[in-house]
Amino acid sequence: MTDPNSVENGISGGLFLSGVVQGRDLSVRLPYEPPPALAALPAPTPAFTGRGDELCRLMDLFASQAPGAPTVVVGGLPGSGKTECVLEAAHQAIARGWFAGGALFADVSRLHGSALLGGFLRAVGVPAYRLPPSGAERSALYARILTELARNGSPLLIVLDNVTNPEQLAGLVPETSPATTVVTTPVHLGDQGTHRMVLRPLAAADATLLLHRALTMADPADTRVLDHPEDAARVAELCDGLPLALRTAAALLAESPRRPLASLAADLADPRTRLDELAHPDHDVRSRLAASHTRLDPAQAELLRLIALSDEPETLTSTLAALTAEPLEIVQERLTALLHLVEPGTAPDSWHVPGFVRLYVRGLPQPE
Ligand SMILES: Nc1ncnc2c1ncn2[C@@H]1O[C@H](COP(=O)(O)OP(=O)(O)OP(=O)(O)O)[C@@H](O)[C@H]1O
Ligand SMILES: [Mg+2]
Repeated sequence: MTDPNSVENGISGGLFLSGVVQGRDLSVRLPYEPPPALAALPAPTPAFTGRGDELCRLMDLFASQAPGAPTVVVGGLPGSGKTECVLEAAHQAIARGWFAGGALFADVSRLHGSALLGGFLRAVGVPAYRLPPSGAERSALYARILTELARNGSPLLIVLDNVTNPEQLAGLVPETSPATTVVTTPVHLGDQGTHRMVLRPLAAADATLLLHRALTMADPADTRVLDHPEDAARVAELCDGLPLALRTAAALLAESPRRPLASLAADLADPRTRLDELAHPDHDVRSRLAASHTRLDPAQAELLRLIALSDEPETLTSTLAALTAEPLEIVQERLTALLHLVEPGTAPDSWHVPGFVRLYVRGLPQPE
């Protein structure tokens, strides 16, 4: 049987002389060979730790032979490691040879729409002068190329980082194209995607190991975590298992090689000043929380404030409805849209705000 992807070229009315082709009518159709788009994928951190379950799940989805390619949406608190986890999975999958076409990566908060499609088309080998002008045409060409690549055994992995609005996915996740897509989102994207996962805090042992890896990344001779495991566990606990807070703690320690872990643990102990302590030019927990908070509309911000300021560990939806004088269904809807910053409590219809979000909201100027 003839391979449907093979290419047969012919010469008529001409000569083939050791590498020189002479002819009147020559037509040559080369197989489509895009340059691997891998160069666009940022490198993963060498300090990567934990997330075993999430990586397994992503690998299973990447490997799945189910018809239609998956679109996985990864959510979680600011700094929970969404981007890092997806990058790690993407690199692992490519190292296994699963995406022979490579991976396309875009931070959708910086580039989107037609400009982003243009960048992706360029990355898969479309020359600038062949880029169609309109977004719709670019999207159609993109879908055709993805289909062609998958048919040729060179599927692509597409990583879309920081998607805040389902509209940003328009044209980038073609319904008919068999390209695996991973989306990270700093908000709650509802039922977008064929699969969804939310990153929770790292387990205590992973959080401590992350501190060790980040410290030895800065100085391989740094043995503070190994020498003082209990102090390290205390720092990890005060960082709430949040990767961004752990990396900030590690960056502060790396800057002061003589500083004992116990000293940092003592400085982080007071919840009122913990966010001030966790500030570093390269990693700043407060500014990421602030970026997330500014995206909220006033009604969402008010619900978050009420839950964060409550002295109860969990707040009922009905209590929030009474406090805001809003119908229960509307409050429920707003809480669902807040699922990247609040978590369902243990009691039915109850909510709580995880540690750092609570500290951040409590530290904001409160209305009279
Ligand atoms: N599992 C991990 N092991 C080691 N470092 C990690 C891990 N996860 C995240 N980090 C580091 O923690 C910091 C925050 O991670 P990342 O930027 O991926 O979080 P994010 O959830 O994407 O944040 P944002 O909501 O702001 O987009 C980065 O410096 C990242 O390298
Ligand atoms: Mg991110």
